Amino acid sequence: MPFLPAHSLTARIAPAGYHQRMNAAALLERDGLLAGLAQHASVAFDHAGSGRVVFVGGEAGVGKSALVRAFLATMPADVTVLMGACESLSTERPLGPLLDFAQRVGTEFAELVQAGEERQRIFTSLLDAVRTGARPHVVVLEDLHWADDATLDLLRYLGRRFADCRALLVGTYRDDEVGTGHPLRRALGDLAGTASVQRLSVAPLSPLGVAALAAGRDVDAEALHRRTGGNPFFVTEVLAAPDAGLPAKVEDAVMARAARLGSDARAALDVAYRGRAGRARAVPRAGARR
Ligand SMILES: Nc1ncnc2c1ncn2[C@@H]1O[C@H](COP(=O)(O)OP(=O)(O)OP(=O)(O)O)[C@@H](O)[C@H]1O
Ligand SMILES: [Mg+2]
Repeated sequence: MPFLPAHSLTARIAPAGYHQRMNAAALLERDGLLAGLAQHASVAFDHAGSGRVVFVGGEAGVGKSALVRAFLATMPADVTVLMGACESLSTERPLGPLLDFAQRVGTEFAELVQAGEERQRIFTSLLDAVRTGARPHVVVLEDLHWADDATLDLLRYLGRRFADCRALLVGTYRDDEVGTGHPLRRALGDLAGTASVQRLSVAPLSPLGVAALAAGRDVDAEALHRRTGGNPFFVTEVLAAPDAGLPAKVEDAVMARAARLGSDARAALDVAYRGRAGRARAVPRAGARR
């Protein structure tokens, strides 16, 4: 039977709630980041007027979403979590993340968002709901590198005013897809001087972390670390298909990212790939000669 990562098994058989707890327990080398987020939350929830915004950056597949899920799993039941994601859609979905959680904010707010009301009204209404709510809030905006212009405006608007709330805003983004001219980079720059806005960076796993993920498997963990750069997405996919060379999901992810590059960068990648293709191999088993 092919190896299945534990979380894909639990997704099918575990009761609701177990999945999140299990992922939190299975995260490697993230104690410091989890402690950092917990510290920001504790300041943000202390009193109205201590709200914070934390941007969590890192390369694709490095574990930003897993980190946020693990953090949310530690939140007490009285915290309201509003979670929305930006998408890489060919047709823009303005304020897409708000559509994900509008109903949770309230029927009136959901109607504003769905009707495509004037942006300022939507922004004010969301801020009011968070600011005046009896419970502390965590607002999560995932994958901000794909944010549409309206969502970036929302980010600027909330970023400057979140300190008035008893709430934490967590925004994730792929830092390697946000070059100097990227609209998110400009929004982050606009907020850089705001004291309540902070950044965290998620790093790839160390050789020890990769060895822990590969424990019990007949693979050379050192080679696995070298070839995946310690990226947990690549590591888990390669471990799921150790004999198949480049797993299809990894190839899809790499192709999707390559397709978004400018034509010069893509041409350079094509040349590099043709040069390496003949040497492409599966990760060697432990003890195999390299
Ligand atoms: N610290 C970790 N320890 C073990 N596994 C991890 C860790 N971080 C992430 N993973 C696993 O790696 C995979 C990719 O993680 P995740 O989806 O969180 O990455 P991401 O940074 O959000 O990627 P993307 O930029 O594509 O959204 C998931 O299967 C996740 O469970
Ligand atoms: Mg993610």
